[in-house]
Amino acid sequence: MRPGRRWAGIMAALRARRIPDGTTIVAKGDRWKGYYAYYFSEARRKGVRPVAVLDEQWADGRTTAECVLPYISPTSIVLEIACGIGRVSRFVAPRCHHLYCTDILDEALAEAKKP
Ligand SMILES: C[S@@+](CC[C@H](N)C(=O)[O-])C[C@H]1O[C@@H](n2cnc3c(N)ncnc32)[C@H](O)[C@@H]1O
Repeated sequence: MRPGRRWAGIMAALRARRIPDGTTIVAKGDRWKGYYAYYFSEARRKGVRPVAVLDEQWADGRTTAECVLPYISPTSIVLEIACGIGRVSRFVAPRCHHLYCTDILDEALAEAKKP
């Protein structure tokens, strides 16, 4: 099973602007180690950026960003918790004053920082 599949329900709820009651997400660092290995390897194989693999195989970053963009203005200072490799960040950053990206995985942040 692809790692992103368990998030599919949550993402569907986000797209519908509805978070299921009682949703609790608990994650420890160890659990996430290697999470992006599949996406990095697919990206190398296809000669594309890892975010492009997520866009195609998991959920399109632009569509996800559209869920939060109505709440953001050019003067907003935004904190994105668990930004991953920047799938959503790249569509939020140009629309706000400053975007702070955080993630538990160094390799994810390193990828998200790439221009
Ligand atoms: C399913 S990915 C989603 C990434 C990104 N938000 C997206 O939509 O593409 C979940 C991310 O949460 C990060 N994460 C998990 N637990 C975390 C924590 N306690 N603090 C910060 N980041 C965390 C993981 O490293 C992973 O990048």
